[in-house]
Amino acid sequence: MPLSSRIESAINAAIQIGEARPAPPKLASALRYGVTPGGARIRPTILTSVALACGDDRPGMTDAAAAALELVHCASLVHDDLPCFDNADTRRGKKTVHLAYSEPLAVLTGDSLIVLAFDVLARAGVEDPARALELVKILSTRTGSPYGICAGQGWESETDVNLSAYHQAKTGALFIAATQMGAVAAGQEAEPWFELGARIGEAFQVADDLRDALYDAETLGKPAGQDELNARPNAVTELGVQGAVTRLKDILGGAIASIPSCPGEASLAKMVQMTAQKLTPVAPVPGE
Ligand code: IPE
Ligand code: IPE
Ligand code: MG
Ligand code: MG
Repeated sequence: MPLSSRIESAINAAIQIGEARPAPPKLASALRYGVTPGGARIRPTILTSVALACGDDRPGMTDAAAAALELVHCASLVHDDLPCFDNADTRRGKKTVHLAYSEPLAVLTGDSLIVLAFDVLARAGVEDPARALELVKILSTRTGSPYGICAGQGWESETDVNLSAYHQAKTGALFIAATQMGAVAAGQEAEPWFELGARIGEAFQVADDLRDALYDAETLGKPAGQDELNARPNAVTELGVQGAVTRLKDILGGAIASIPSCPGEASLAKMVQMTAQKLTPVAPVPGE
């Protein structure tokens, strides 16, 4: 089965748990709306690729981990788009959850998806309790505070912002979770996989800053130019477009060099390279 179908089917199985009867019908529908159709599914793709590179001896555990991670990511987007955060109208080319449903349902959708993520991991514990427990530990660390996406969003309410803590928590956290959870799902240690996740996360943040500055809302499927509008510190303001592209390439080179030795090291390097190509914006900005 192609990687993308494997991931979609794991995500679908997870949503089915949350939308089953007697779920309130609107909340059930909003859960699916907030998760499908997906965006790039980059986090579960990295997670599953790392697991495969490590032998993927328990595919059910890998699928649970991949679905759980993507559910937390989707939940973070639903909450991030709310009027009390970024007040966004569109996400993945369609109306945001609070506009398509309501604010209360968007809050509940995000909440339910986060809880569902941990439910999925708990269920996978039947197969291998020790691995599932470790997966819960990694995902909770990278979701909450001080090292997770909640902390990342929390920095936006501070006047004195520690930029690298902000970026590592807001964006890096779920990439660190991706590489570490992939390794743990396949029975390997988490620690050696930290650096790869952190580097991919850093590259992703630079790429996202470039896309935000260079692309329009239609191409992005979400509002563009947000960093400038909200005066957010970002790589394009700091380094210029060419500087940011060079920085992106440097970070990705470092990411490939940091892949721990494992049976599928070469194919994993190829996957990181392909991700890099997809991340690098192609449209040059006029005048640059
Ligand atoms: C958007 O993430 C949020 C950030 C951390 C910048 P993605 O760009 O991975 O969003 P989807 O899942 O592909 O829509
Ligand atoms: C979203 O960050 C990150 C999280 C929800 C953790 P942004 O607000 O920068 O991303 P977009 O532009 O809405 O996707
Ligand atoms: Mg935001
Ligand atoms: Mg946002």
